[in-house]
Amino acid sequence: MRIDFTASAAPRAGAIVALVADGKTLSQTAQRLDRDSSGAVKRAINASKFKGGKDQTLAIVAPRGVRCSRILLVGIGKPDGYDALAAFGAGSTIYAALAGTADTAALVSVDAFPGMKVEPAEAAAQIAYGAQLRSYRFDKYRTKEKPEDKPTLAALTVAVRNDRAARAAYAPLGRVAEAIFFTRDLVSEPANIINPKTLADQARTLTKLGVKVEVLDRPKIEKLKMGALLGVAQGSENEPRVVAMRWDGARRAKDKRPVAFVGKGVTFDTGGISIKPAASMEDMKWDMAGAGAVIGLMRALAARKAKVNAVGVVGLVENMPSATAQRPGDVVRTMSGQTVEVINTDAEGRLVLGDAVWYCQKQFKPHTVVDLATLTGAIIVALGHEQAGVFANEDALADKLIAAGKASGENLWRMPLGEAYDKDINSDIADMKNVGSGRGAGSTAGAQFIKRFIQDGVKWAHLDIAGVAWATKDRPGVPKGASGFGIRLLDRYVADNCEIKV
Ligand code: BES
Ligand code: MN
Ligand code: ZN
Repeated sequence: MRIDFTASAAPRAGAIVALVADGKTLSQTAQRLDRDSSGAVKRAINASKFKGGKDQTLAIVAPRGVRCSRILLVGIGKPDGYDALAAFGAGSTIYAALAGTADTAALVSVDAFPGMKVEPAEAAAQIAYGAQLRSYRFDKYRTKEKPEDKPTLAALTVAVRNDRAARAAYAPLGRVAEAIFFTRDLVSEPANIINPKTLADQARTLTKLGVKVEVLDRPKIEKLKMGALLGVAQGSENEPRVVAMRWDGARRAKDKRPVAFVGKGVTFDTGGISIKPAASMEDMKWDMAGAGAVIGLMRALAARKAKVNAVGVVGLVENMPSATAQRPGDVVRTMSGQTVEVINTDAEGRLVLGDAVWYCQKQFKPHTVVDLATLTGAIIVALGHEQAGVFANEDALADKLIAAGKASGENLWRMPLGEAYDKDINSDIADMKNVGSGRGAGSTAGAQFIKRFIQDGVKWAHLDIAGVAWATKDRPGVPKGASGFGIRLLDRYVADNCEIKV
């Protein structure tokens, strides 16, 4: 969808959108539309339940006296509760309300209300961002959809007094939105299209933005002795890849060490010999959402020229049962030298990540490592689909990530780590096993496993995104389907904590 900004709120062809605050307080634009339509706006409000509450909408179709197809009123609730995230949500609501109409263009007029927590120009940019992200659709495989059944809205113009400031505020957000769409495409693609090789090829396209991309194939991975990652991969005809992406946006920084992001990229997880039940197994095409988010994040940072040194590492494998697959009870030697008894071949993500985070630290010496993984079903039991779990070896890092989550709308909830949980993954015949002994605290067992591959002095956080990588219903800025969770969050974390000031 095309996004544009203007200083003039004069209606034109298409829909015109005006804001209304709680208690039916009309914005200037809404008042003017009411006058021009000889009171149709107020009459419509009084004939409905619309009060201007947050995310309430009311459409007035083909009003006499105003040059537009419809007036869409959008409630913002109480102005003192209206911040950037609320504006983002309003943009999403506006897109959703217009997507079902025949309109191809809409003009959103953003007027100030006394007490509003966000500048109108910033609100305008966030409304555009929310609308853009809500407009995502993965429809390339629908060959029989009638054109009239597809959403037609192709252009959104946001009118705000300081349109230059709004355009400047939107520029980086638009780039991030493109990166999120890229990730959503990767995560939505089925596993017969996206496998370790084709996903690595997609990561390689980041070179055109100035990202240095290195792809390790099986012989190179063998040379590095990533025995745990290779053990997961050995059941599949699709050979593994490890991809390292580097964005050096802060060459003049005093501390050149990068922040690192590591993603689980299981392009399909059957469970392996510990095979999963048939029901919902198709969901496991998105078991590479962590890797997808890392690739998208690197693209976002490069596209908006973030002043940060960042690396992204993704471990790409397919977990299949076959005559060559690893067996429960197999012992593998990881790149770190530590050995693992593979009790359950379905606990494969941690095996991939153990080697991937070790390689990342050895190769790039990051000060901080944040990994993202659709690691456990247990995190869905704990947190549902509302927020992701965060595990961290430093409180300050957890707090920064949680704050970035609140600001971006991609929320995190802190989960525990501890010595007793760590002991629970000790093995009788190897250094560790890949599952805990009891049935409880399954997400923590996974986190404790990864923690054994974090070197002393490195700050680390693990985000278990199994519950949020795929939206089971429409959400603000996220239509049902692949969410791209982690990009908005970590882009914000980088902007607030890692970029140098110049
Ligand atoms: N990819 C799954 C976790 C998952 C489950 C993600 C459902 C999204 C939705 C992971 O590899 C897995 O199978 N985990 C096991 C771990 C267990 C064997 C210790 C699980 O959660 O059941
Ligand atoms: Mn699994
Ligand atoms: Zn998995």
